[in-house]
Amino acid sequence: CWYIYNLVFFFPGFGFGYSVINGPANATVLAGSEARFNCTVSQGWQIIIWLLNGNAVLTTTHLGGAVVTIDRFTQQNYTSGETFTSELIIHNVQQNDSGKIECSIQLGIPNSYAFLSVQVNGSLFIKDHNSTVRKNETIEIVCEALGWAPAPNMTWMINNSFVDKSRYVTNHSQGSNDLHNEVSTLTLTLMANETLTCLAYIEALPKPQNATVTLIVQDSLAENGNQEDSTRTRTIILAVTLSIGFLLLIIIIFIIIYCCLKNKESTYQKELRKVSTKKTNDGSVKTRRSSGNDNSGYSPEDPV
Ligand SMILES: *[C@@H]1O[C@H](CO)[C@@H](O)[C@H](O)[C@H]1NC(C)=O
Ligand SMILES: *[C@@H]1O[C@H](CO)[C@@H](O)[C@H](O)[C@H]1NC(C)=O
Ligand SMILES: *[C@@H]1O[C@H](CO)[C@@H](O)[C@H](O)[C@H]1NC(C)=O
Ligand SMILES: *[C@@H]1O[C@H](CO)[C@@H](O)[C@H](O)[C@H]1NC(C)=O
Ligand SMILES: *[C@@H]1O[C@H](CO)[C@@H](O)[C@H](O)[C@H]1NC(C)=O
Ligand SMILES: *[C@@H]1O[C@H](CO)[C@@H](O)[C@H](O)[C@H]1NC(C)=O
Ligand SMILES: *[C@@H]1O[C@H](CO)[C@@H](O)[C@H](O)[C@H]1NC(C)=O
Repeated sequence: CWYIYNLVFFFPGFGFGYSVINGPANATVLAGSEARFNCTVSQGWQIIIWLLNGNAVLTTTHLGGAVVTIDRFTQQNYTSGETFTSELIIHNVQQNDSGKIECSIQLGIPNSYAFLSVQVNGSLFIKDHNSTVRKNETIEIVCEALGWAPAPNMTWMINNSFVDKSRYVTNHSQGSNDLHNEVSTLTLTLMANETLTCLAYIEALPKPQNATVTLIVQDSLAENGNQEDSTRTRTIILAVTLSIGFLLLIIIIFIIIYCCLKNKESTYQKELRKVSTKKTNDGSVKTRRSSGNDNSGYSPEDPV
């Protein structure tokens, strides 16, 4: 019994005279690209059936070749000596193609299998920020990775060297269609110009996607501050001078008005006096005139 078990276990397909020599290998690819799997069988094979998540997607027979029933699944074959290799090609891979890939050659022989993992290369960008910052100012730079599968691994670089994990915080959120978003916030205090790079990595990418910004440190911002200060001081001085001037002006105006009034008053009194004098003069004139009138007829009486 043990002997038979060993025979079946170590020489599968022995009874049929053929077997899978090399089965498919795990693959991780980007959505939209193509995935390839090999299944190498020994001489004597009759049929190879490829299954994706339990569904037959392509069949190849020794006599008839590949039977393509779904456009996205095709085959390339290789013959080398005694072996035959069927290479399954999945075109325009979709996210829901992820799962188990099986190569089946005969009922009763365990299928050879592997896993397909389909990933999505999302977007990556550093959010709006000022490109010039004050020296020794603490700022936060936010990098957003949207629409990825799986959630990407986020890292930061300053001047091309990796930043310690303690200096940034990354938050995950679930997007639509099984996609993931990551928002990473880096806190830093700048003393000199620096080039910041935010990187997002998933296995299917040959190298991480990155977004870069260069921050310019402005020493002159401090000088500008001083300039502002001096301008403000000047403005204050000017304002004070102006208000003092204004006060003086008002005082002078009051003095002038006061003097005028006083003058006017005195003139008024003078006038009054004048008028009264005039009145008396007039009176006297009148009296004189009247007397003159009275005396007019008498003028010839003057003794010659
Ligand atoms: C293939 O992928 C499956 C599922 O992800 C994993 O369990 C297995 O260890 C992988 N095999 C190899 C050879 O990497
Ligand atoms: C499958 O095998 C062929 C021939 O050996 C080789 O050229 C090809 O790269 C292999 N494909 C995969 C996905 O390993
Ligand atoms: C897989 O997703 C595509 C769209 O991305 C859809 O057209 C297709 O019907 C889906 N297949 C399954 C089996 O859900
Ligand atoms: C991933 O997406 C970015 C941004 O759309 C693109 O620049 C890059 O070429 C993509 N990478 C691959 C391997 O398709
Ligand atoms: C930077 O700012 C901190 C306080 O925010 C201060 O203690 C430190 O002295 C400053 N360093 C320089 C070089 O200006
Ligand atoms: C980054 O590079 C700039 C010049 O390119 C340099 O002035 C600055 O000190 C560097 N910063 C760090 C943290 O290495
Ligand atoms: C960022 O991506 C560009 C374009 O893919 C590449 O040339 C550059 O080397 C990358 N930078 C880093 C720091 O990985």
